[in-house]
Amino acid sequence: MTQITVELGEHSYPILVQPGAMDLAASFLTRFANNSRLFILTDENVGSHFLARLEHAFSGSDVDLVARILPAGETSKSWHQLELVTDWLLEQGIERSDTLVALGGGVIGDLTGFTAAIIKRGCGFVQIPTSLLAQVDSSVGGKTAINSAAGKNLIGSFYQPRFVLIDPLVLTSLPDRELRAGYAEVVKYGLINDAKFFAWCEENSDRLLNHDPDVLSEAIVHSVRTKALIVGEDEKEVSGRRALLNLGHTFGHALEAETGFSDKLVHGEAVAAGMALAFAYSARRGHCDVADADRVALHLKSVGLPYNLATASVEASGKRLVDHMMHDKKMSGGTLPFLLANGIGKTFVANDVELADVAAFLDESS
Ligand code: GLY
Repeated sequence: MTQITVELGEHSYPILVQPGAMDLAASFLTRFANNSRLFILTDENVGSHFLARLEHAFSGSDVDLVARILPAGETSKSWHQLELVTDWLLEQGIERSDTLVALGGGVIGDLTGFTAAIIKRGCGFVQIPTSLLAQVDSSVGGKTAINSAAGKNLIGSFYQPRFVLIDPLVLTSLPDRELRAGYAEVVKYGLINDAKFFAWCEENSDRLLNHDPDVLSEAIVHSVRTKALIVGEDEKEVSGRRALLNLGHTFGHALEAETGFSDKLVHGEAVAAGMALAFAYSARRGHCDVADADRVALHLKSVGLPYNLATASVEASGKRLVDHMMHDKKMSGGTLPFLLANGIGKTFVANDVELADVAAFLDESS
């Protein structure tokens, strides 16, 4: 069992990584069950795998699990679902002292967190992430959001959970494609500030993607430790420290927008291609060696992740992709900060990037 703390003063909270934790959930979560109940939000896919198990884990306790099962997929991060969920919670008589539990991947975590942030001006919130992406990234750090017609994650708040319970063994039932997509976010932690960890990824990716529980646990603990430190230093992405976690996301966001935020290219895949593009662009600007950019692309290729526009199945012009980037919520005063790199493990924020130059680079890359 590994416990990691996100140090945020009175909003500090523990993250527990323990194989088998799902079946021991009652011993970790009962303390959050004011009024002897917990409100669980999950989706159809995750619910069919884990809701009965969670209920079983609580069977000997006096805590009631009050669950709502949402449709699976990104469309649940909507005003419509937010309204349905908040109306339902109010009908159930939720109080500010109650706790919502997000049982699922990033979509459920983001929607549950935002619901917790606004219902009765804020109730408790616990994460039980069930995808690799949610375990290593979205369940930690308190970014919560829904989507709007204007784009993804544009309505939301920073609202920290009180506890994150991670069971690496739940990933054994995760489809290969989802595991691989989540792995892109693991690689990210090597690329941003830890070249040794990137080398670890190169050595261990086969075992990880074959669901080896020890390797998965090691990757999760390392990723969560890194993220907890960064969030502790820059909770609301003010100093630029937390922005490092956006490596690959600006390019990736344009690819996701171009493919309609659909199953054609899921978030982690877009981030993989985006990181390779960020390194290739860094090499083009002379920030890093071409050999480093090639090494990043080669690793992503070797695990079956997209590593350029073609492998992301995107044919759009550079101008069109850059137009997508202009809707990015990080856009400030007409400029967009880009995460570039001086080498593997040496990511930095560049505020002097000309979007026309990015468009030219993308045209040359396609
Ligand atoms: N996923 C990036 C962040 O949490 O800051």
